[in-house]
Amino acid sequence: MKGIILAGGKGTRLYPSTIAVSKQLLPIYDKPLIYYPLSVLLLANIREILVISTPEDTPVYERLLGDGSRIGTDIRYKVQNSPRGLAEAFLLGEEFIGNDNVCLVLGDNVFYGQYFSELLEKAQLQIKSGGAAIFGYPVANPREFGVVEFSSDNRVLSIEEKPAKPKSNYAVPGLYFYDNDVVEIAKDITPSARGELEITAVNDRYLKRRKLSVTLLGRGMAWLDTGSPSGMLKASEFVQTIQEMQGFYISCIEEIAWRRKFISRDRLRILGEELRMTDYGKYLMALADSETE
Ligand code: DAU
Repeated sequence: MKGIILAGGKGTRLYPSTIAVSKQLLPIYDKPLIYYPLSVLLLANIREILVISTPEDTPVYERLLGDGSRIGTDIRYKVQNSPRGLAEAFLLGEEFIGNDNVCLVLGDNVFYGQYFSELLEKAQLQIKSGGAAIFGYPVANPREFGVVEFSSDNRVLSIEEKPAKPKSNYAVPGLYFYDNDVVEIAKDITPSARGELEITAVNDRYLKRRKLSVTLLGRGMAWLDTGSPSGMLKASEFVQTIQEMQGFYISCIEEIAWRRKFISRDRLRILGEELRMTDYGKYLMALADSETE
């Protein structure tokens, strides 16, 4: 399975902070925002990754993540000339995807919770025989998201993008698993009223084919909003609190790469030593010296 991180867009809701810097490079506490979605792909055991961003920002992501080999992955890049919508990822990524299934994660989505790896594994299994797997998460402000409607026996009835009158409070987070048909579907949809190729239109196609699975995420999962300065601050505080209380880092890409056996313990130690002036680096070095795998 291939993975795509969409890290473009204008970031206008965070202006002036994002006039000169891509939103997904801003820090959430101690690491760039893009580390969080990248860690989702690594947790899902996905090593072939395409990062899509703007013409200005793509070289900066390349500087940050390189070719991915430092963490035992293969990271490639593709420019999106203007933000024509999330579904354009599958057009820009067509060659990269080839004949594989694909997971798309939005560059500004932060997930954290127990059993998340199992959930990712289940989603991949679900689409092995075709279809799409997405998630639903209860939110207080569903108007700002894609929203799923359910029947009383929990069947998915509809999926709408930013509805004025949401039919449920379940938003669709920016994490989507698709079979290879997604490329053809993305070619076939037309831009919405706001001029974008909507991911919701893609999901709706799968729903019409009866091939859309929606897994509801419960209280044990955190899906953090980074859509506003206060959301960014709260997400930072959340990460800081958990890391300081538990001693485990959230979305530490080097740690996940090591636990997934993409890199050796020695490689992890080298990566830690390079950052030894920070707590982050010291954490990696301590992991490399720890007893457990
Ligand atoms: O976060 C989940 C929501 O993401 C879903 O519930 C919605 O269905 C989905 O449409 C999307 O809504 P947003 O309005 O939050 O999307 P936004 O335009 O903010 O873009 C999300 C990320 O994708 C952000 O990191 C910027 C990047 N992006 C966006 C567009 C439209 C691109 O890289 N290229 C694009 O063309």
